[in-house]
Amino acid sequence: MACLTNCPSYKRLGELYEKKGKSLTLRQLFDSDADRFNKFSLNLSLSDGTILLDYSKNLIDGEILDALVKLAEDREVERRRDAMFNGERINVTENRPVLHVALRHRGPEPIPEAGGVADVMPGVRAVLNHMREFTEAVRSGAWLGYTGRPIEDVVNIGIGGSDLGPLMVTEALKPYAGRVRVHFVSNIDGTHLAECLAKLNPETALFIIASKTFTTIETLTNAGSAKSWFLASAKDPAHVSKHFVALSTNGPKVREFGIDEKNMFEFWDWVGGRYSLWSAIGLSIACYIGMDNFDQLLNGAYEMDKHFRTAPLRSNAPVLLGLLGVWYINWHGAQTHALLPYDQYMHRFAAYFQQGDMESNGKSVTSDGKRVAYNTGPIVWGEPGTNGQHAFYQLLHQGTRMVPADFLAPVHTHNPISGGVHHQILLSNCLAQTQALAFGKTLAEAETELRKSGVDDAVVAAIAAHKVFEGNRPTNSVLFNKLNPFTLGALIAMYEHKIFVQGTIWGINSYDQWGVELGKQLAKILQPLLQEPGNTGSQDASTNGLINFIKQQSAK
Ligand code: F6P
Repeated sequence: MACLTNCPSYKRLGELYEKKGKSLTLRQLFDSDADRFNKFSLNLSLSDGTILLDYSKNLIDGEILDALVKLAEDREVERRRDAMFNGERINVTENRPVLHVALRHRGPEPIPEAGGVADVMPGVRAVLNHMREFTEAVRSGAWLGYTGRPIEDVVNIGIGGSDLGPLMVTEALKPYAGRVRVHFVSNIDGTHLAECLAKLNPETALFIIASKTFTTIETLTNAGSAKSWFLASAKDPAHVSKHFVALSTNGPKVREFGIDEKNMFEFWDWVGGRYSLWSAIGLSIACYIGMDNFDQLLNGAYEMDKHFRTAPLRSNAPVLLGLLGVWYINWHGAQTHALLPYDQYMHRFAAYFQQGDMESNGKSVTSDGKRVAYNTGPIVWGEPGTNGQHAFYQLLHQGTRMVPADFLAPVHTHNPISGGVHHQILLSNCLAQTQALAFGKTLAEAETELRKSGVDDAVVAAIAAHKVFEGNRPTNSVLFNKLNPFTLGALIAMYEHKIFVQGTIWGINSYDQWGVELGKQLAKILQPLLQEPGNTGSQDASTNGLINFIKQQSAK
């Protein structure tokens, strides 16, 4: 595909930005169009609830949105989307299809894998059945540990995509939890495992070793230590089969670790790690909330997939989110994007999409290996409201940078305590923040407010400028009925597809992650140097200095 910057619609957007985009104000846009909310919002009527995307508080008008949609057309978002769903090898640097959508496919149609099987669905369904059988046994208490006691604690040992998704989802869906507790160990820092093991009884603990490759050093080291801890009590290695299962694409490595093949839940190399919670990697989720709820999570994602596949670009939620992000990153110079859920259960949502987005679109060469001449993926971050308001929102409101943000909130809470007043305050804060960010407070308004408070003119003159909110800070609001498995599945899929849309526009491969490799390679070289006697001089001066400090301090 031709270079993005040569694309006529890209050039057109540059002109529009210069002509009016950079000076649009949300105050004017709303004042001049009473129908703006209706024109720039989307009601997604899904079978288990509606999701409202209000994107009216963005620095766009109809003409700019048309040009952005034209950009999506010119970059062949629809053709590439269909290529993904049809199992084509769009992950070109790893020569793989990108088929996480097959994991939640609920229709009768086959999903082919180009150059592979004619239909991946029988394999997908077989693993889902295996997951159901296993999780029902664990949750009902029929699966017994080596002393005949039922499982009480499930520990997922994995990292990155083999950790963040299940962790985020189990936190988000706590109200759906059953009898079994779930824990997550990811960090190679022994503290993570030690703190977890301290809470467990080996007789009632089940370890899920989650690793697509089964070669990740953190996961294998943690898994090995967990096995040693278990065997210190259980003694007989034959008991491992009752307490250790594996989620992986790598059968031989799983067997080498000592896990029985019947306790392995398979997935495939066409599932990217950060898109894998829908696969066997979701086993800890299913143990925690049950397979029926896990199915609902898949159903929600499937409905979002259908929306993404069929809705016109102009009314397609992931496409709109992607295009708006491109507008801010490539023309307004935005560096970051905040995800701000007004739901405590979603407190890991931004952390999850840090990997989802930054590992996918944190690229600086195009799929055909050329250095890009424009910015790509944003720094994604965020915390739940209202905590964020009392921490970093000052910068969002009055700092010098533009930080586009998405505000997500459920209309109903799982915890309507004190007559629902908590939730009313939460929701009103969510709405108030997007209003304040959009419309701000002018100097004249700040002065009037100060005068009304009774202070004298000197104080008004000294303070007013500090009370100005420039406003014009773009946000999306995503409202939904209640945070249930279905809605969460739909929301996750919506953001996954947003990442796809942006990667397509930028012409990068969103599905590899070579950028994490160099550090891993170097750590392998440095680890033995930490054990060698004497000072090292083999590395750069800084690294030598750091190694030598560690050695000196370890000797004390
Ligand atoms: O280091 C990055 C990464 O490769 C991620 O993409 C992946 O999610 C994570 O490591 C874990 O990999 P695995 O599931 O193979 O252990």
